[in-house]
This record gives sequence, C-alpha cells and structure tokens, in this order.
Amino acid sequence: MAEISSFNTLFVEKLLVWYDRNKRNLPWRDTVDPYKVWISEIILQQTRVDQGLPYYHNFLKTFPKLQNLAEADEQKVLSIWQGLGYYSRARNMHQGAKQIREQYKNKFPTSYEEWLKIKGVGSYTAAALASFCSKEAVPVLDGNVFRVLSRIFGISEDILSGKGKKVFWDKALELIPKDKPDLFNQAMMEYGALQCTPKSPDCEQCVFQNHCFAFNKSLISALPFKNKKLVRRSRFFEYQVYLYKEKVLFKTRLKGDIWEGLNEFPLIEKLSKEDLVKSTSKTKHVFQSEIYKHVLSHQDLYCIFKVHEVKNLKDWESLIKKNQAEPIALNKIAAVPKPVLISKFLNTYFNDYFSTQ
Ligand code: ADE
Repeated sequence: MAEISSFNTLFVEKLLVWYDRNKRNLPWRDTVDPYKVWISEIILQQTRVDQGLPYYHNFLKTFPKLQNLAEADEQKVLSIWQGLGYYSRARNMHQGAKQIREQYKNKFPTSYEEWLKIKGVGSYTAAALASFCSKEAVPVLDGNVFRVLSRIFGISEDILSGKGKKVFWDKALELIPKDKPDLFNQAMMEYGALQCTPKSPDCEQCVFQNHCFAFNKSLISALPFKNKKLVRRSRFFEYQVYLYKEKVLFKTRLKGDIWEGLNEFPLIEKLSKEDLVKSTSKTKHVFQSEIYKHVLSHQDLYCIFKVHEVKNLKDWESLIKKNQAEPIALNKIAAVPKPVLISKFLNTYFNDYFSTQ
C-alpha cells in the first residue's frame, strides 16, 4: 500500500515536470476566461488540436463575447462550424449561451455540478471548465486520460462500461492534487496526446517506463480495453442538383439524422452503390459526378450528384413545391451552412461562382 501511494506522488511530480518542459503553447491555456475555455473544450471534444485551432480563433473573432453567440442566428453559428463535423456541438453551445444569458444572467457557472446543467456540457467538459477556470479538483476523463491511466496503472476495465468509468474516475481522483487540479488535468491530456499515443507511444522516452504496467507486461496495444465494437453503416445518397438561372435548390436537413440544420440539394437515398448510377429521375440530368466517398464516425456515405438544367419557370416552381426546397443563387451559396461533402462538389464543379473554403 505504501509503495502504491508513493508511486502516486512520484507520478504526479514527474507528470508535472514533463508537462512544464514539453507542453504545447495553446491559446486556451493562457486564460481562465470561461467563455474562451468553453469554446476550446467543445471544439476539442471530437477534433484534433491542429484542426481545431483555426476554428477556435475564427469562432472568437465572430462571436467575441457570450452575448454575441447568444444573439446569433443558428445558421451563422453552423456556418462558422462548417467542416468540423458533429454539428450538434455547435447547436448545443448556441443553446447553452442563451441559457447562461437568460437563466444565469450572463454569469458563467463556477463549479462542476453547475456546469453539468448547461446544454451540451457533459462530465468531461464540466470537469475541464471547473478545474481550469475555478481550480476545482475534479478529474477530466477523455480518451487521452483513459489511455494514460489504463496503461501506467494497469486498469483493464472497459472504458465504455459504467463500472470502468467509476474505476478510472476513482483512480484519477486519488491522483489529482488539490492545489493544482488545472495543471494536472492539462498535463494528463497532453501526456496522452504527445507521449502515450494510441498507436505508437514513445515508450523509449517515457518518464514512467519503469513503472508502466502495460510496458512491463507487453500490453501496450491491449490497453485501454474497449468492448463495444462500432457498427459501421454504409449509405447511398443521390443528390439532385436542379439548376435554373444560376440558382440551385437547397433543403435544410431535419432532426434525428446526420447534419441536422445543415443544407444540401434534394436527396434520394438509395439502397446500394449500383442504384446510384442508374437514373431514376424523370427530368433527365445533363451531368453526373463520380461517386464521392465521405467517411463519418459511424457511417460511410457514397454520394453521387446529378445535375439537371431546368427549362422553364413552371418546371422550376413545381420542383420547389415537390421537394419543399428553396432556391439559392450560386453566388450566395458560400454563406449557407452545408456539409463539407456539398462544398467539395460545389468547389469542383461550380468554382467559377465562388470559393466556399
Ligand atoms: N483536448 C481537450 N481539451 C484539451 C486541452 N485543454 N488542451 C489540449 N488538448 C485538449
């Protein structure tokens, strides 16, 4: 027991020294402003730091204060988020901003429990915010932290199970220093991101090599343990690009599926790749794209675009009605929030009109 707890102390000491020497200089680490930290943590939930950085700066430039975000139009928020994926993050944060403005009179929560009440803030984000901005000693458990803890301390519980989460939480709580919870949490995430990486951790340079359970037992690739197999789904999208007087028809995607609130061309979902190349539309299309493969976290999308030139106003109006779609001028389309896939298509084939990214 004495040996275990002394390793706890040594672990924290070594970790913080390593962090001080190796940490990346990231803008959200120089601030305790909850608005900025909140934005950074929501972006970083499912996005790598290098990809998230320009979005962080642009988001703050567009919405410098909570009030600007709370008062913004949702379509504007989504257009700033465009390309980051997992758009519910942006919608929830927008709702959360309204909630803080209205229910909390513009005062940000200062504790873990209070942060949990904000729309879109789960346990991990609440812990990050409470520890970074208010120095509350609650551990952040993200993928990086699970990995570091499971390998070094030999925790083999399934990180996706309720029991597993509790075991990791208890271990992290045992380690987190009450006077520096912010540094500890940042350092744990950084160790996982830079040193104890998923596929090829740099065990040679690891400051915990002598103590690391997984290194000593050759279990690096087995830990952390995740039981749930991701079931991937393939989907086949046929987009109808109706063109009339330099306008196209666009629709907003509904709740309950990918890309809620983003805009796209009228879509027919098919059952197979073969079905995508067969033409079923009555209005014969003048052009058809290659099949685009677009990979999401749980789905592989195979998409084709069929361009139709609409001949007259009557046909155009009946297509608007039939598809419940809206005409958008091609030179206005850059500002409309849409999936990256749609931007790719537009940039390839309609580049003369604009540049969307
Ligand atoms: N990933 C999630 N939160 C992070 C942070 N604060 N710094 C670096 N990477 C992170």
